[in-house]
Amino acid sequence: MIKVKKRKILLLPGDGIGPEVIGEVKKIIKWFNDKKSLDFEMDEDLAGGCSYDKHGSPITDEVFYKALESEVVMLGAVGGPKWDDVEFSKKPERALLKLRKELKLFANLRPAICFEQLVSASTLKPEVVSGLDIMIVRELTGGIYFGEPRGIKPIENGERKGINTHTYTTSEIARVARIAFDLARKRSNKVTSCEKSNVMEAGQLWKEEVQELHDKEFKDVELSHMLADNCAMQLLRNPKQFDVIVTDNLFGDMLSDQASMLTGSLGLLPSASLGAKNKDGEMRAMYEPIHGSAPDIAGKSIANPIASILSFAMALRYSLDLDNEADALEKAVQHVLNDGLRTKDILSDGMKEVSTSAMGDAIISKLQ
Ligand code: IPM
Ligand code: MG
Repeated sequence: MIKVKKRKILLLPGDGIGPEVIGEVKKIIKWFNDKKSLDFEMDEDLAGGCSYDKHGSPITDEVFYKALESEVVMLGAVGGPKWDDVEFSKKPERALLKLRKELKLFANLRPAICFEQLVSASTLKPEVVSGLDIMIVRELTGGIYFGEPRGIKPIENGERKGINTHTYTTSEIARVARIAFDLARKRSNKVTSCEKSNVMEAGQLWKEEVQELHDKEFKDVELSHMLADNCAMQLLRNPKQFDVIVTDNLFGDMLSDQASMLTGSLGLLPSASLGAKNKDGEMRAMYEPIHGSAPDIAGKSIANPIASILSFAMALRYSLDLDNEADALEKAVQHVLNDGLRTKDILSDGMKEVSTSAMGDAIISKLQ
């Protein structure tokens, strides 16, 4: 059993714009070490397509073990068209899925917050998204992403059959629902649980288990159940009706992409993937921006580092118990947006366009 080393941060920048945006996080971690005398121990290694290119595997055992003993893993992004023809088990995404599964990071927190300065960047009407603050809690280690049997196999008539299996056990449902209820208590005290209980038995079980946990331990939290397709529609119609949404791995993947666009840009949204606390109160966790590797803009110094920087703020809050530092970092981001600085993805009339590193530097200058 590998122990978690306190304050150890492993950076896995990955592919595409990953190294650029994690580069800005690195500057911020250094700033906290130098200026705030924090003792973060930083290490950096390969995961994703870059690891495949060098080692023939999307994540080596060595890097995987480093992740296991790190209190925080900061991931950039993995994948890109370059690796489209790589065999399935060696695709860059397998690194991410292995880390999630083997580090047992079952709860994925994906906030969708609409920054007041960027209301106009959303494709929805300002009054629909202004003030939006949703937390999507996505189950991350179960469901159709990992269920067995899976694969592609030939069948008698000469055709091929693709198979994936969607499964959930009661404990898998209850542990992620518990996270959602706990979070709701610190927010607006409302949980919407999404499934397809009208067509899937696993969805019916999901609904029953969430309700049971609610009735036993979280009666004070307002709980409603919603079919996932209806939730997709409601997110566009009236997103501010939601506080915390809890849902399975696949629906969570889709609904969180959708929710993120309500806020104007994928480039702003962080995420946290959390495991269970052990008896010593230690927890494994990985933090990553919601956006992907964006190979079309990689290497141009135009990527928005804010999602990664806010992911580090989540790490300060959820893993490192540094709420004040997390607040300060989030406020620094707000200040920079108030000053009118924008990376290309969120640029609008009258604002000043800045590069990836200039955005990072500006945020650091606001931390001073
Ligand atoms: C996400 C991504 C991943 C997922 C991919 C890259 C495997 O879309 O984190 O939402 O499907 O979970
Ligand atoms: Mg996704």
